[in-house]
Amino acid sequence: MSNLEPITITDLEHTVSQCNRCSLSKSRNCTVPGEGNYDAQVMVIGEAPGSNEDKTGRPFAGRAGNLLNELLDSVGIKRPQIYITNMLKCRPPSNRDPQQSEIDSCNPYLDLQISLIKPSVIITLGRFSFSKFLPNIPLSKARGVVSEWNGIKILPIYHPAAALYNPSLKPKLLQDFQKITSLISMDEPVVFEQSQIIPATQLSLFDDHFE
Ligand code: URA
Repeated sequence: MSNLEPITITDLEHTVSQCNRCSLSKSRNCTVPGEGNYDAQVMVIGEAPGSNEDKTGRPFAGRAGNLLNELLDSVGIKRPQIYITNMLKCRPPSNRDPQQSEIDSCNPYLDLQISLIKPSVIITLGRFSFSKFLPNIPLSKARGVVSEWNGIKILPIYHPAAALYNPSLKPKLLQDFQKITSLISMDEPVVFEQSQIIPATQLSLFDDHFE
């Protein structure tokens, strides 16, 4: 990544638009770098663009996006207040799972987005973004539990698309989204309740906590 030193999010988005670091660049229509508030307190990280995102260049532009909007609405957050991106910036063919080599190729972009936007809270949607921050822990155990990564609060949540296939997950998503309000106020300075925060390195030691 030494040849890639964007100084603003706009530079980064431009660099992503030219990217050919992996073979997904051959099949994509649009790159989907991310969108939203460049000063956001909250960054949402999904998995990868689907067909609507590939057509429009916007993250979460389809049915999963509509559900994400509804979940954000349920806690009084509007999309322009936050920044939304994905692990991958290009669509995997037929919406297959991201491959590790693709995640590795795209990861420097995500790290740069995090370091430029400096969110206080990252919400991971689904297992791929969750594993970047908390590898080797089942999402079913860690969902809804706040941990810390490089001083940023990480709140893992199931992917909204999972609730489209399995509607019984929707109450869990609504419940986990409620946690966001205890981590931030969109108008006030950020106040964290320390008792809620578990260092990521200790998460696997706290199995009881998740049951
Ligand atoms: N749309 C996205 O942008 N990301 C996902 O993970 C799913 C749908």
